[in-house]
Amino acid sequence: MAIDKFVSRHIGPREDDIKEMLKVIGVQSLDELIDQTVPANIRLEKPLNLSNGLTEREYFRKILKIAQKNKVFNTYIGMGWYDTITPSVILRNILENPVWYTSYTPYQAEISQGRLEALLNFQTMVCEMTAMPLANSSLLDEGTAAAEAMHMMYSLRSRAQEKAGANVCFVDELIWPQTLDVLITRAEPLGIELKVGNFKDAVAGENWFGAILQYPNSNGEIEDYAGFTKAVQEKGCKVAVATDLLALALLTPPGEWGADIVFGSSQRFGVSMGYGGPIAAFFATRDEYKRDLPGRIIGVSKDVNGKHALRLALQTREQHIKRDKATSNICTAQALLATMAGMYAIYHGPEGIKAIAERVHNIARLLAREITKLGYAQVNKKHFDTIRIDLPRHVKREDIEWLSLDLEMNFRYFENGQVGLSIDETTNIEDINWILEVFAKAANKPVPVIDSIADDRSVDADIKRKSKFLKQEVFSKFRSETEMARYIKRLEKKDISLVHSMISLGSCTMKLNAATEMLPLSWIEFNGIHPYVPKNQAMGYHELMEELRRDLAEITGFEDVSLQPNSGAAGEYAGLMVIREYHKSRGDGHRNVALIPSSAHGTNPASAAMAGMKVVVVPCDERGNIDVEALKAKAEEYKNDLACFMVTYPSTHGVFESSITEMCDIIHQNGGQVYMDGANMNAQVGLTNPSRIGADVCHLNLHKTFAIPHGGGGPGVGPICVAKHLVEFLPAHSVMNNGHIGIHAVASAPWGSASVLTITYGYIKMLGADGLTEATKIAILNANYIAARLKDNYGILYTGENGRVGHEMILECRHLKTAAGISETDISKRLMDYGFHAPTLSFPVHGTLMVEPTESESKEELDRFVDTMNAIFDEIKEVETGAADAVDNVLMNAPHTAEMLTANEWTHAYSREKAAYPLEWLRENKFWVPVGRVDNAWGDRNLFCTCEPLESYK
Ligand SMILES: Cc1ncc(COP(=O)(O)O)c(C=O)c1O
Repeated sequence: MAIDKFVSRHIGPREDDIKEMLKVIGVQSLDELIDQTVPANIRLEKPLNLSNGLTEREYFRKILKIAQKNKVFNTYIGMGWYDTITPSVILRNILENPVWYTSYTPYQAEISQGRLEALLNFQTMVCEMTAMPLANSSLLDEGTAAAEAMHMMYSLRSRAQEKAGANVCFVDELIWPQTLDVLITRAEPLGIELKVGNFKDAVAGENWFGAILQYPNSNGEIEDYAGFTKAVQEKGCKVAVATDLLALALLTPPGEWGADIVFGSSQRFGVSMGYGGPIAAFFATRDEYKRDLPGRIIGVSKDVNGKHALRLALQTREQHIKRDKATSNICTAQALLATMAGMYAIYHGPEGIKAIAERVHNIARLLAREITKLGYAQVNKKHFDTIRIDLPRHVKREDIEWLSLDLEMNFRYFENGQVGLSIDETTNIEDINWILEVFAKAANKPVPVIDSIADDRSVDADIKRKSKFLKQEVFSKFRSETEMARYIKRLEKKDISLVHSMISLGSCTMKLNAATEMLPLSWIEFNGIHPYVPKNQAMGYHELMEELRRDLAEITGFEDVSLQPNSGAAGEYAGLMVIREYHKSRGDGHRNVALIPSSAHGTNPASAAMAGMKVVVVPCDERGNIDVEALKAKAEEYKNDLACFMVTYPSTHGVFESSITEMCDIIHQNGGQVYMDGANMNAQVGLTNPSRIGADVCHLNLHKTFAIPHGGGGPGVGPICVAKHLVEFLPAHSVMNNGHIGIHAVASAPWGSASVLTITYGYIKMLGADGLTEATKIAILNANYIAARLKDNYGILYTGENGRVGHEMILECRHLKTAAGISETDISKRLMDYGFHAPTLSFPVHGTLMVEPTESESKEELDRFVDTMNAIFDEIKEVETGAADAVDNVLMNAPHTAEMLTANEWTHAYSREKAAYPLEWLRENKFWVPVGRVDNAWGDRNLFCTCEPLESYK
């Protein structure tokens, strides 16, 4: 490995290590191992046709040139994206900080208390701004949040409504066009009819179940919806309201005028526009609907010692358990961005947020006044940040457009020729004068000069918020940068991330998120661009996205790629909708059966249900492989209605099933399409591909295989890659031409989470064809090395025909439970005492641990993990033989906090030293777990999902 090559930084083991590891596995060479692992009939015949890997320095030059092709104008388009100032203390300590961006979804609560607190703050902020009692954290974007609201209202129908087949959801016509676009996509397969109209003329009919409004609406107008809401609710329907968190600092919040659901984007709370994303959507509702709330909820609970502790609440609603009956398919959300938005509220506090909102409003008022003086008409009666301007007859819209572009500004242009301006927190005096210059010159009037914004009138009294918000102590405590940085650090110290130790979560691919891949994210040329600017201002983005699409198509063997879906599950949904549309185009619209193996991830059946499909489960045999005979029987049984087969490859059992091509053939022979879940693509890149195995469409988790970090539960990017016959159905967009002409949008932004695509782009460009293939081989090597070293103690549940695992393996733990009463949960909690995050727990097989080391871990780290697992095995043996107490042992009491270990009283049957320092290296490098084992059931019984009010601290 040449030392200046990025591959030598991305991959963990050195050449000598590889030799030793191969010896332990029992093969002569890496190629021999790969031959034994990946079936010959699916291997690629040619190397990937991608460019050679660049050094980090070369890549920097390349990405800098691309960045310079993007033009950062002042943008007043609004429509759901606004320029915002990310406080530098948040930028540096969260967005650019690997402890925050490389950590995983907080399923292991004890080592996630920092990000759990940050997300609880986000939820509290949402509840406070919207005046709703319960919020989640978080959803993918505003459009999908609207769809979740529609779905939730639909499932909350009364018995009578259900019986009567009430299926109409009213949508006010002045909702963002992209939100309506996503609603159209999501309504149709569920049999929901959207009735789009003006709320002022609408009367709830017997067949309604809900209504969706926007406040302020798409024109920027602030309507009084209280009467409409009451009338609709009196008919037994629910009302969901899209809103703007900043506006709610001034306006009566929807929770105070009766809304059942309040949702929207939190982007303008310090998260850059990023050419569309990623951003975190928020979603709040009434307490009585808690079991129907989509997405993750952070709740307060306590640990074994009675200490305050946080964890994910009410998980039984989620797809992991409920599968096709889940409230939603959402898994990866936008945790990192939610964390940032919550921190923005903490940084500014109630008075700061209000001051920003007032300033924005005052600038909008000032502009309205001055532009009116120039002979224009401002048509919004009541507005917050957006004014809509009617041009006098002698002023041409084109003149406004070229004058504004000349001054590097983007305005919004309505279909009827009116011009829109949405003001944001970055707008200053200079900007105001430029805007006025445009309107004055277009009207042939002298250019006015403004030298102050001083106009501290707030919104009209009848719409003005009277209630206080952000009352909790956390929102008033950290004003100085020193205090803020320390608070962020304090939270950070409670969490395990990739900078602490390997995170061997099977199916999650926690690989290196290289600093060079991450750095461009902070550049304004990538993050300062609104998704609706003219394309010639985003040429860098388009060059990057074109190349990325081409590279991903090459890697998957498919024809084209849609970058729009914002997570793996969103990709599944998009792919299934594409399949559905394909069948419809052939007069096969009745095909609605999705065959899904019993081992599938919960999002698969949940996505199929959302796409209007009926889920039929296919069993696996005792070796963990899909039962091909059963698959054949089901495919034939349902051949008239078969829509698709959803298959993860290599399987969620970590095995390359050699019958995969046969399975795909069976599906095609019976009229179905094959959807490949690409979560395990890290075992395929360069060796095989979804097209080669016979699939028609797949999603990729760029946040797994392609180096986008997990961010504590998002961002995610789940592009779908399709064969030629499906290209025409890829998701389009109602506002921007994104190059596709197929189904309606599946996300708000035309190109999804565009800004983080820079990470994947860097990953592919720096590894190049050889490096990517090498990475796959080493991922398989690392997994087989761990399997070889752990198989005797634990047992590897499934292997391929030659006894090899793919890039991950399932460690058997059930015999330990039988012999010693120690569960897989006990093992994962004990791992925390050793400084490790647990592998994937009880998925896809209950009572097991699934380990995926990735190619980025060095032999030394793998050995540390293996030594730890073996030390834990010895501890279990002590319980089994009676050398340790059956209940009072290091495993069942794990994790041990510093507080427990240093208490004056120590009553346990083992020593403090054994609890804290079971292996020598822990004396040098110890992670101190902040809380003991968390009581999940208590938290769910006493659901509490906001941070404590100020009084309770006194
Ligand atoms: C096999 C599999 N499919 C789908 C998903 C869902 O992907 P996402 O979390 O990006 O929505 C996961 C996530 O872990 C997975 O492991």
